[in-house]
Amino acid sequence: MFDSGVGGLSVLRAVRRLIPAQPVLFLADQANVPYGSRSLAEVQALSEGITRFLLAQGARLIVVACNTASAAALYQLRNTFPAVPFVGMEPAVKPAVEHTQSGTVGVLATPATFQGELYASVVARFAQGVTILQDTCPGLVSQIEAGHLEGAETRRILEDALLPMIAAGIDSLVLGCTHYPFVIPLIERILSANSRQPVNVIDPAPAVARQTRRLLAENGWLAQDEQPGAMTLWTTGDTATFEHLLPRLLGEKLASHSALWSADQLTG
Ligand code: DGL
Repeated sequence: MFDSGVGGLSVLRAVRRLIPAQPVLFLADQANVPYGSRSLAEVQALSEGITRFLLAQGARLIVVACNTASAAALYQLRNTFPAVPFVGMEPAVKPAVEHTQSGTVGVLATPATFQGELYASVVARFAQGVTILQDTCPGLVSQIEAGHLEGAETRRILEDALLPMIAAGIDSLVLGCTHYPFVIPLIERILSANSRQPVNVIDPAPAVARQTRRLLAENGWLAQDEQPGAMTLWTTGDTATFEHLLPRLLGEKLASHSALWSADQLTG
């Protein structure tokens, strides 16, 4: 599994809950975060390099635990590595449209995700007759990378995005970036303080975990052990910072058979 940073841990957390025995290799490309303001070509090159690294470490299935990397690179990754099953992410517009009563849906994602063809095709397929309001939440990924899940600046960024959406009557909110589930408690406080109607907040991680389990089972790769599987994690950024945030974001500490490494070789 990989992401530009700690965001992918929201997907890893869902995978660990669903299939705890499955061994996981996870890379956070924190030397290059945020991906969202990079060009699609840059994100493609980074995603391909990381995929090669994870395959060389023994990965058999790749979860692109990043909407931005999926938007920029999933199609190309599947072409470049035709024998490898990939699980990608796209903003969960479909369930939001199925749920909405007000006909107005909010989507939070990065600029690169909104620019990609994947998002355009999701909107064209599923959002006919529904109003979609989008926001890129500038600065939010960096706040979350720094562990500021509650501070005044994080709240300001979210209020700037959400208050106009609430005023327009959203009743569904799609989290189209894997970093954002970590600020769901703050999002819910802002929604309940300002919205007259309940707003359904959609985190796609559990659905991605189910798709991962399905593909592993189809290939005969689903781990059957009773014990939690080993996790091997890499960051291209600072290992100490990543390790400090890990228990809070993942909800578990690294067990003795798990490890965190620096992946310097990817940064050069
Ligand atoms: N977590 C990523 C996503 O799902 C990307 C955030 C970023 O690096 O900009 O889009």
